[in-house]
This record gives sequence, C-alpha cells and structure tokens, in this order.
Amino acid sequence: MAHSIVDSSDTDLEQERYLRDATHHFRGIEKPLKYGPTIETLNDLITALHKEFDTNYVNIEMVNHIMLSYKSHPREWKRFAKFDRFKYTRNLVDAGNGKFNLMILCWGEGHGSAIHDHADSHCFMKMLKGDLQETRYEMPCSKAIEMPNVDIGEVNGDSDEEQEFEREQLNVVGSTTITVNDVAYINDNLGLHRVENPSHIDTAVSLHLYCPPFNECSVFHKNSGKRIKCPVTFWSKYGVRQAESKK
Ligand SMILES: [Fe+2]
Repeated sequence: MAHSIVDSSDTDLEQERYLRDATHHFRGIEKPLKYGPTIETLNDLITALHKEFDTNYVNIEMVNHIMLSYKSHPREWKRFAKFDRFKYTRNLVDAGNGKFNLMILCWGEGHGSAIHDHADSHCFMKMLKGDLQETRYEMPCSKAIEMPNVDIGEVNGDSDEEQEFEREQLNVVGSTTITVNDVAYINDNLGLHRVENPSHIDTAVSLHLYCPPFNECSVFHKNSGKRIKCPVTFWSKYGVRQAESKK
C-alpha cells in the first residue's frame, strides 16, 4: 500500500505564503476576541502562539488577540530585557519553530530606530514598560537598494548625505504613542515606521512578534527615500548576551 509522505518544508512554505498574502488585508485589531483563549502569563502567550502556528492557515486575528490579552508582568520578562547605553537592543525570547520570532526590545532614554520596513512580514508590537512613539510613513515608489551590510541598530535614517540621489522625501502618515499593554500592528502594505522612546528619564520595553521571521530588512533615509538593506541581529538570545561574532 502506498503512503503519501507530507514534506514538512512544503507545509511550512504554504504557511509562509498564506501569512504573506494576509498582509494585504489584515490591518490589526484593537480589542481582544470574545472567543479567544485567556492569556495570563508570558508562558501562556508563548504556548498559545505555538499552538496557533501549528497549522498552515494561521488565524492572524487570533495572534493579535494573544498579544493583546497578555498583561505585562515585569518579573516574567525581565531576564530577557538587556539594555545598551547607546542604542536599542533586540533580545530573542522564542524562535517559534522557525515560524515566528518573539523578541523583547529595550529602549534606553531617547533611543529610537531608523525608518524601516518589515520584509513582507507581520509585525506586532506590544508595550511592556514605558511609552513608545510610532511615526508612520508612506512606502516610497523607488525600489533602488544599497547594501552597506551594517546592523539595523547602527543606521540613522536622518542622514542628509545623499546629494546625488534622486530625492523622494518620505511622507508622514501619522504619529501615535503606545502605552503599557497596547499593541501596534504594521506590515509593508500599511507603510514604514520609526519607533522611539520619547522619554529622556524613563526606559521603555516592548514585545515584538514577527511572522514569518526575517533576518534582514530595509531602512530608509527620510529626506531622499533611499533604501538600505540591513541585517537584523540579536543582542541576546534566551536571556544570554550574544558575542559580537555570534549575533
Ligand atoms: Fe518595526
């Protein structure tokens, strides 16, 4: 008797295709679902995410629900929250069997990101501590890419050095402040964003879920619209600081 063999890499690809397609219509939800599971701890959140991603057709509204439903308890996440004096850090919490990345970003006083895209993935950003200001921009028309091969945290999109480049200033769509337990959602069809800690007194901590996971994205110069491909790396993984060569 012949047996059909299910190739797990095929089903993973199907899930990835499905998730990317969902970026065309999903825009985020602001309230938890009525029928969703109760999420009381960070472990509940991780368990529920693994369950959700254990199918080809991930319910992205349920993923949103799971992120919204968790209420921040610093004792549960502080072992992942590792700060740097000079720039924000990305700290891996769970690699989601290769289907999603869950990470904690630590923002020192006044720290901010460059303007960036999300590599055709879904991005959920939940506040765990403090506030973050999110500024959204329209995606520029130009597809020109430069490859400087520096980490995303090293690039400042404010540079005005691109005199030769045909300019296409990025248009601001809006600005929002997100506070503890809020969830912001973005994907490339909704535009680009810059995230910053507006406080010069308090740090901020946020929990990010990216699906499918990615290891490079683009950052953009505000004044020229110029796009630069950047690898994204981790400051720590599972609570352990990464050596420079292993990030
Ligand atoms: Fe982002």
